[in-house]
Amino acid sequence: MKKVRKCVIPVAGMGTRFLPGTKSIPKEMFPIIDKPAIQYIVEEAVNSGIEEILFITSPYKNSVIDHFDRSYELENRLEKSGKEDKVELIKNLSSLATFTYIRQGEPLGSGHAIKLAKNFVGNEPFAVMYGDDVMMYDEKPVLKQLIDVYEEKDCNVIGVQEVPKKLVNKYGIMIYDKENEGKIIGLVEKPKIEEAPSNHAGLGRYIVKPEIFDELESISAASNGEYQFTDAMLNLMKKQDFYACKFDGKYFDIGSQFGYLKANVEFALKRDDLKDDMKEYLEKF
Ligand code: UTP
Repeated sequence: MKKVRKCVIPVAGMGTRFLPGTKSIPKEMFPIIDKPAIQYIVEEAVNSGIEEILFITSPYKNSVIDHFDRSYELENRLEKSGKEDKVELIKNLSSLATFTYIRQGEPLGSGHAIKLAKNFVGNEPFAVMYGDDVMMYDEKPVLKQLIDVYEEKDCNVIGVQEVPKKLVNKYGIMIYDKENEGKIIGLVEKPKIEEAPSNHAGLGRYIVKPEIFDELESISAASNGEYQFTDAMLNLMKKQDFYACKFDGKYFDIGSQFGYLKANVEFALKRDDLKDDMKEYLEKF
């Protein structure tokens, strides 16, 4: 079985839910406290054993590229002023992994974006991590939990969690094989609450085999004109196994206002330098 070494992170979406904030700042660069959301995702990938990362980016998202590059002038100035601790925070970002970038000319959907990764991926299984889905975990990174399922079952994997029934209409919801625990036989995008086949939602983490690219080539655009990654996975499900990884960890959709606010509060409550002040503030409030 081939190891999962590569990861594709699409960050070329328009972030319309978070306008006007996303007009000139990519949502992936919104800081959660003092670190851009995308850095949390890259660190999760690296801590899961990923060596090569491809960003699917757009002409408006150069700050993502800059963030994972060296910044000699800033490093020199910090060194000269004796701020070694700050140098440490920025110097190693470029060596976290091997970074590659491809621009998506037009934001034609997640499926269209991931299709551009074909040459980068080659003939290997790979991870897909959505650039606006940030995870908080204790010991094992969420992506590593998916990789463990892949290694155990040699299958495609979707990271899922239970969501409240009243919110199923906001997510891609899994349809399971009744005879085979965890095996996914379909998924419905944003079903009506009364028609949802389960309350397990796919939350922005996937391991897929390279045959997904044949399916990405053949899908058609949805009614909104976008090519959906989900449609390609549904077609691949007819030929290969998909299993759910019900992961331990907390998920934050930082592309939505409330998800972003929650991420800031919860990450602050985990930080030694902030948690006491934050708790006191919340209690008083
Ligand atoms: P989303 O649907 O969450 O992002 O896509 P979006 O399109 O930016 O969201 P809104 O609805 O307009 O606010 C999931 C991931 O896929 C990327 C996004 O950047 C996000 O990380 N994406 C989406 C692309 O790279 N290209 C696209 O054409 C669409």
